[in-house]
Order: sequence, then structure tokens, then C-alpha cells
Amino acid sequence: MPFAQIAGIGSYLPERRLTNAELEQMVDTSDEWITTRTGIKERRVAAEGESTSDLAAKAGLAAIADAGLAPADIGMVVLATSSPDLAMPSTACGAIAKMGVACPAFDVMAACTGFVYALQVATDAIAAGRARHVLVVGAEAMTRYIDFTDRATCVLFGDGAGAVVFSAADAPGVRCIRLGADGSGADLLTSGFGAANPPSAEACARGDGYLKMAGKEVYKFAVRVVPEITEQVVADCGMTLDDVRWLVPHQANERITQACAERLGVRDERVVSTIAGMGNTSAATIPLTLDGLYTAGNLAAGDEIVVVGFGAGLTWGAAVIRWTKEAC
Ligand code: UT7
Repeated sequence: MPFAQIAGIGSYLPERRLTNAELEQMVDTSDEWITTRTGIKERRVAAEGESTSDLAAKAGLAAIADAGLAPADIGMVVLATSSPDLAMPSTACGAIAKMGVACPAFDVMAACTGFVYALQVATDAIAAGRARHVLVVGAEAMTRYIDFTDRATCVLFGDGAGAVVFSAADAPGVRCIRLGADGSGADLLTSGFGAANPPSAEACARGDGYLKMAGKEVYKFAVRVVPEITEQVVADCGMTLDDVRWLVPHQANERITQACAERLGVRDERVVSTIAGMGNTSAATIPLTLDGLYTAGNLAAGDEIVVVGFGAGLTWGAAVIRWTKEAC
């Protein structure tokens, strides 16, 4: 049975930077509040006309090139997003058209945990022999779903995409995965129009499609679930946290990251933080952060990495991945 290893990785951040100073001019907030409460200094915003599938295609092509492959080699595309181009068709189909890829392609919706869910799908597809090379993308144009008059949410989110090519191999790269969901928390974080929230003229005028979050409740959930699943997935692999070179958590709030690292007893230098420069990029966060480690030359073959996500649903997921590529 083939295993899934990381063969290539890439990412894309839109050029436009939205700073805390600019947000001070837009809503009643301050750089001091945003920095101390969240750790965010700036976030990226997709250009006018640039959609989630555009960001996904740019990150995807970079990952395919890094793997030394051509678009025609990709046998499946799994795209995780909370900010789809449209409710239908899938953002994955938009992305493959832009990449020149022709294969089964679909979206996975598990909010900020989406990349970890997509990782499970890719690993299983490779193990089942359905594809030799699976492109997993986390792509978000979150700012399209944000009400820029709501200070509680508009300071938090940003746009971007990260992508990873997983290829069939004789030894495991993706080693253990844990996923979970609890639908009783479905109302805590919502966004977009759909069958339960149809886009009537009145609903649009009321701003019903904008992202809404019960921040404190989600915060408490995150600091409980992240240490729990991190410990579980590491134990599943027969390891301890001392064996883990990098902890790559979803970046929603620097205080969440710090609290979880503290509870786990993992030293700061092994916990990756990218929130200052890009805010919360939902499903794109984990692959963007992984690519940042790679391009900075901080990943060496044999490094054990734990990625851990949490978010709307409520959903959560963690995976242990052995880095098998050479350093960048
Ligand atoms: O990725 C998906 C998962 N998402 C998360 O994990 C997010 C989890 N939640 C959080 O990170 C935090 O709850 C937030 C960053 C969203 C909010 O931080 P908080 O420390 O929980 O603040 P709060 O919501 O309790 O608000 C405290 C005060 C309030 O004022 P009062 O009622 O105390 O007078 C807010 O109105 O801060 C006010 N406030 C702001 N002030 C200045 C809220 N947003 C802002 C703002 N600027 N942007």
C-alpha cells in the first residue's frame, strides 16, 4: 500500500497589504488593541477581480513546479476553502482550469481545519491507488466575506493560498491524522449565503452574508482542543512532543498559539508563528506557514512536523508529517 509524502510545496500572497494603521482610519480600533489582543500587524487583500481560485492556481502551480512535475501529472485536486468563488461550481474546478490540470477536483469545507481534512482525503486516495500525485490546496479570499465596518472581525482575517503535492512513496510522510467535529457549535462562526440564508435583496442590505463570530467561545474551544489533539496525534505515532521539530498551529490569534504551546510545554522556538504578517487566512494558513518554513531553509529531511487546525463547524484536526524532501 503506497504512502503519501510531500513532493512539492508553494504559496501565494496577494500584493496588497492592509495595515493596522489603515484599519484605524476605517473603524474604531487601534494598532495597540489589534497587536496585543491578536498579534496581527498586517494582512493581505486580494486584488479587485482576483478570486479564491486565482490564488489557489498560483500556489498550486508553484507546488507542482517545486515537485518537479507538470500539471498533467496531477491525478486529483482537493481544495480546502471557507471563502469559495461561488456556492457552485467548486472553487477547485475554477483552479484546475487556471492551472491547466485535468483530473478529478473538488472542494473540502471544514473551515480553518480544511487543510487537515483535505490531507486525510489525499492520503487515503494515494493509499487506495486512486492517484500517484494529489495536489492539496488551502486558498482563501476571506476579505470578500468581511464587513469592513465591523471592528470585531475586520481586523482578523486575510487572503492567501498554500499548496502541497503529495506523492506515492514506499515510506510514510504523512504518518498519523486525527479529525473531529462537533456540530453543536455550528452557530459560533458562520459566513456566506446559502440555502439556510438565501441572498435576498433584504438579506444583502442587512449584511447577512458577512462573517460573524462569537470570538470568546471560539477562543475557549481552541485553547482546549489544540493541546488535546496535538498530544493524541503524537501518541498515535508512538512519539513524544520532544520528537517534534516544528509545531505548526492554525494562526487565529497569537494568544491562542502561546496558550496552547504553554499547555503542551513546547518551547517557543519550535512553535511557528506567522500571524503578524498575514492575519488569519483560514484553510490557507497551515500550507502557507509550512511553505514559509521551507523557503526559509528551516526544514530538513527527517524533521517531524505536527500541523493542527481548528475552526468553524466546530471542526478540528491534527497530523504528524515527516519532512522527506531535502532542505530548500
Ligand atoms: O480561525 C477560526 C477560529 N477563530 C478564532 O479562533 C478566534 C478566536 N477568538 C479570538 O481570537 C478573540 O476572541 C478575538 C480576537 C476575536 C477578540 O478578543 P477578545 O480578547 O476575546 O475581545 P472581546 O471580544 O472580549 O472584546 C473585548 C473588548 C470589547 O469591548 P468592551 O465590551 O469590553 O467595551 C470589544 O467591543 O474589545 C472590543 N473590541 C475592540 N476594540 C478595539 C473588539 N474588537 C475590537 C477592535 N478594536 N478591533
